[in-house]
Amino acid sequence: MPFSQACENNKEPILAELKNIFSDSQQVLEIGSGTGQHSVHFAANLPHLTWQASDQNSYLTHLNARIELVGSPNLLPAFGLDVTLDWPTSRISPMLDGLFSANTLHIMSKAMVEAFFNGLGQALSTTANVVIYGPFNYQGQFSSDSNASFDQWLKQNNPESGIRDIEWVIKLAQEQGLRLQSDIEMPANNRLLHFRRC
Ligand SMILES: C[S@@+](CC[C@H](N)C(=O)[O-])C[C@H]1O[C@@H](n2cnc3c(N)ncnc32)[C@H](O)[C@@H]1O
Repeated sequence: MPFSQACENNKEPILAELKNIFSDSQQVLEIGSGTGQHSVHFAANLPHLTWQASDQNSYLTHLNARIELVGSPNLLPAFGLDVTLDWPTSRISPMLDGLFSANTLHIMSKAMVEAFFNGLGQALSTTANVVIYGPFNYQGQFSSDSNASFDQWLKQNNPESGIRDIEWVIKLAQEQGLRLQSDIEMPANNRLLHFRRC
């Protein structure tokens, strides 16, 4: 099964924030669940809510294998969700009041990031918490040498990938009625952004 050491390293610090942010959330959708290590860990440790994993179709076999093997009753089998295609609205809870996505915005092209925010703006209820985890730039500057090297590496793999400016991400969120509540420093030069719509 695909395995991410980064997920193992960051899952506890992220969970510590999610316990607070999602304390009054009931239905959380995860976009770009990847290996599913976050999905199984967060669902098991946030038993008051339902966690819906998702990813592009090509990831689903391995993702659902992990969910079947070590998932908890409040973790739903992952479905296919590509932010640039029609979102599977019939499978998304009409009461969706939480969204989580880790390490996705720097993989997606800018057009995909725009599609991500347009889609979640339509999928979310009027009251909702959105958590986005990953590296970000501030005023066009990398926040560390390692993030600058990471950005170079990303662009070698795909010229359309790259670490995003936080100001742009905040603007896209605002257009969907989401206000930044906190921008939390995390280990390894990552950030955890909490947006809320209410
Ligand atoms: C670096 S992985 C992160 C996986 C996991 N969230 C983690 O933190 O380890 C990037 C993820 O973004 C997803 N992704 C990329 N483009 C996407 C798109 N257009 N729609 C949905 N997910 C996408 C990939 O499929 C992959 O799961």
